[in-house]
Amino acid sequence: MTTAPIPGLDRAPTTHRRLLAWVREVAELTTPEQVVWCDGSQGEWDRLTTRLVEAGTLVRLTAKPNSFWCASDPADVARVEERTFICSRERADAGPTNNWMDPVDMKIIMTEQFRGAMRGRTMYVVPFCMGPLGAEDPKLGVEITDSAYVAVSMRVMTRMGSQALAAFLDDEGTERDFVPCLHSVGAPLAPGQQDVPWPCDNTKYISHFPEERMIWSYGSGYGGNSLLGKKCYSLRIASVMAREEGWLAEHMLILKLTSPQQKVHYIAAAFPSACGKTNLAMLEPTIEGWKVETLGDDIAWMRFGEDSRLYAVNPEFGFFGVAPGTDWHTNPNAMRTVERGNTLFTNVALTDDGDIWWEGMGEPPAHLTSWKKQDWTPASGEPAAHPNSRYCTPITQCPITAPEFDDPNGVPISAILFGGRRADTVPLITESRGWEHGVFLGATLSSETTAAAVGKVGVVRRDPMAMLPFIGYHAGDYLQHWITMGKHSDADKLPKIFHVNWFRRGEEGRFLWPGFGENSRILKWAIERIEGTASAVATPIGYVPTTAALDLTGLDTPIEDVRATLKVDEAQWRAELPLIEEWFDTIGDKLPATLREELDALTERLA
Ligand code: GTP
Ligand code: MN
Ligand code: MN
Repeated sequence: MTTAPIPGLDRAPTTHRRLLAWVREVAELTTPEQVVWCDGSQGEWDRLTTRLVEAGTLVRLTAKPNSFWCASDPADVARVEERTFICSRERADAGPTNNWMDPVDMKIIMTEQFRGAMRGRTMYVVPFCMGPLGAEDPKLGVEITDSAYVAVSMRVMTRMGSQALAAFLDDEGTERDFVPCLHSVGAPLAPGQQDVPWPCDNTKYISHFPEERMIWSYGSGYGGNSLLGKKCYSLRIASVMAREEGWLAEHMLILKLTSPQQKVHYIAAAFPSACGKTNLAMLEPTIEGWKVETLGDDIAWMRFGEDSRLYAVNPEFGFFGVAPGTDWHTNPNAMRTVERGNTLFTNVALTDDGDIWWEGMGEPPAHLTSWKKQDWTPASGEPAAHPNSRYCTPITQCPITAPEFDDPNGVPISAILFGGRRADTVPLITESRGWEHGVFLGATLSSETTAAAVGKVGVVRRDPMAMLPFIGYHAGDYLQHWITMGKHSDADKLPKIFHVNWFRRGEEGRFLWPGFGENSRILKWAIERIEGTASAVATPIGYVPTTAALDLTGLDTPIEDVRATLKVDEAQWRAELPLIEEWFDTIGDKLPATLREELDALTERLA
């Protein structure tokens, strides 16, 4: 059978044979109306955003330049962990914390989902690079998508288009490998059928084929499920690459901290989704003379340099930040970033004068259009913005982005923080007793669930290194990889590991610690511990500062509250032990023996 050629398919701006073959194969399977190769130009952005406005997907804001409001389908607002699969050949390689399906079975199922899925739509071919384009071994990908919203979002979040495509051939003209990322919203259009503003399907699959380094995503347009360079590539697939190649792909921010004496330290920090990474990455210190600059707010790739120190790179090029709670008091740098325009806002509220609003931004206006596209007033009794609403904005617009964010060599990390959202038990900051104890703190990290993933909010779950939803292989192997990484280097070259909790609560559920800019006081203590100038108390769970060891100059918070956030309540910790035990049992045989020993030692110290 011969079919009519698909317009645009042959206008490929590359000779990369594997890429050409794959694009053709996908086009023949999904049968789009036309194929568009994205170049990442401003003209292309203008064309696509105009088209999305006409389709009713985007509303152009009048209050911010080149910025748009978008409301998703109310059933497509967050990552779908239940529908996220690791399709390794062996079930055991996905481990107990991932949904697994046989790759052959998954391909059979999803091939049928993808068959004809792009009918009536444009298929966009989006070449991208995760990490600096100047890297020796650039990490390339191509996302094929039938969503123009995804194509424009990828331009913000990654180094995308012609500049990335140029790297598909190396200096000798040899074809480089890339990760094929296939995405469809799963809503084909019959001839003449009217489209909806946010097409998606009730059936969703977010599938990863780690051995083949391939991603297939079907049915969702939400960023975490559809911007495949982000969680799918830079965490799930990259974690598999990293284990094989001896590096780390982590759910971490990267920040630069400069002391009044102009000493520079770089800090990486892993907190679960919606637990403060973006806010910490853009922190405005409240202590005199200290300066924070941003390198990344969500993902860090870390490898050892020739000097045996651990160097971190941010693979992304934009921020996909949680909107609610962000305002001029909590995160002024995020506000300044989005103020400059070129930003997509998804599931926030729209004001009558063409601006955006969300909870946490102060007094709401008398009337809004809610994320559900309904009239909203302060009497409506429900949030105007979805709790997982997001802004998608270029990293280059952030006024405190450190210039070295684009350095392919990365920056040497002095400290790693692991943190979660815990109402009790976990003190404001604890310094580990060394790398292996630090890995134990990361491995047993726990946090109350948030709106960033579909499911119940506020339930405490273990979230190793804040990577539970993102480890592309067996969690036990992942923890062993962390232990092994620590053997690459001498103790004095390894980052010092800390455990933090900004979310401890007092009576009536109020936060004991003011957080945000005040967290600079905690970073300062961590750095002073590294430099050997701050004091700490040895406790069964690690080293904890006294109130005297922290710089509390000018802090409004009552000293009793600070003391309460620092308290090591041994009874609460003893109650934690069986929960850690249970979590370790979940991981099973592959749990590194070192971590069992750490647990035994902790149990003994608490006895
Ligand atoms: P993902 O982007 O989903 O990975 O999350 P994230 O870790 O970047 O979380 P983010 O910084 O966006 O913070 C999420 C929520 O936590 C927001 O509502 C913030 O207002 C709140 N938050 C962040 N930092 C602090 C803090 O220091 N104290 C308190 N109380 N809340 C905070
Ligand atoms: Mn995240
Ligand atoms: Mn974030």
